[in-house]
Amino acid sequence: MTRHFLDIHRLSAEDLRGVLDDAHARKAARKGWPQGRPDADAPAKDRVLAMVFEKNSTRTRFSFDAAIRQLGGSAIIANAGDMQLGRGEPVEDTARVLSRMVDAVMIRANSHEDVERFARVSTVPVVNGLTDRSHPCQILADIMTIEEHRGPIAGKTVAWVGDGNNVCHSFIHAAPLLGFHLRVACPPDYHPDLHDLAKGGDSVSLTSDPREAVAGADVVVTDTWVSMGDGDYEERLEAFEGYGVDDGLMEAAAPDAVFLHCLPAHRGEEVTDAVIDGPRSLVWDEAENRIHAQKAVLAWCFSERD
Ligand code: CP
Ligand code: NVA
Repeated sequence: MTRHFLDIHRLSAEDLRGVLDDAHARKAARKGWPQGRPDADAPAKDRVLAMVFEKNSTRTRFSFDAAIRQLGGSAIIANAGDMQLGRGEPVEDTARVLSRMVDAVMIRANSHEDVERFARVSTVPVVNGLTDRSHPCQILADIMTIEEHRGPIAGKTVAWVGDGNNVCHSFIHAAPLLGFHLRVACPPDYHPDLHDLAKGGDSVSLTSDPREAVAGADVVVTDTWVSMGDGDYEERLEAFEGYGVDDGLMEAAAPDAVFLHCLPAHRGEEVTDAVIDGPRSLVWDEAENRIHAQKAVLAWCFSERD
């Protein structure tokens, strides 16, 4: 069966743990190597990854390209606006064609449903590189970063402060599978989708009070208040007043709490310079870990096909 990586909750706990362990191992095994040297096992040797972007990207674009090279394969990258997809060619027809030409497809899409439609007809693995609903690759890198600095994620408390958005949804999906507790603090009108929240079960709690969420937490995470595709910038800035992560809020967390942000950050809005550039911030390790985590995802996708 073709292994797609569309959302964290579609994986078994065992597979998710396996992907994270492989990410840690791959990172450790190539310490000090030049970025372009393939891993010893080169699990994507001779394979081609297509990357399709409907939205802007820095980290996802470069990390997937570096990742497939380090796995021994190569990439073809296209902006959807330059493809016939951008002129209305059906998603399914695009999927059928790319399935004949490449060995896997990573898509960053406006609509989550489009990625689901693509995957339904694709005969090669499809990886979700961010949609309006979720960002599963991002939170793999986040969890990997937490584990590198603070040990296993199981039993930890993670506080999400800000918008109940796509990245927040993927954190929610991961919590019950990996056994950590997620406290989400967001303004009442910007809570996570209720279907996604339900997937978190008892592992996730919701409040409108950032201090309540952060109290004693091991990790504090935030993201932009205005995601790609969100139009109501002024309205959002007003609604999120009081939800910025600053030194005062970090003080309420555990003494050794760390700070994460998927980036790009809007300094002075959801996070202060002092926090993101401060000693508790792990954002640059987090960004680097996108490569290692996605290598493990791609290796997992390819492992079913041989
Ligand atoms: N965090 C993240 O996905 O960054 P990009 O939008 O730059 O890919
Ligand atoms: N929530 C943000 C994440 C960017 C990586 C967005 O969707 O724009």
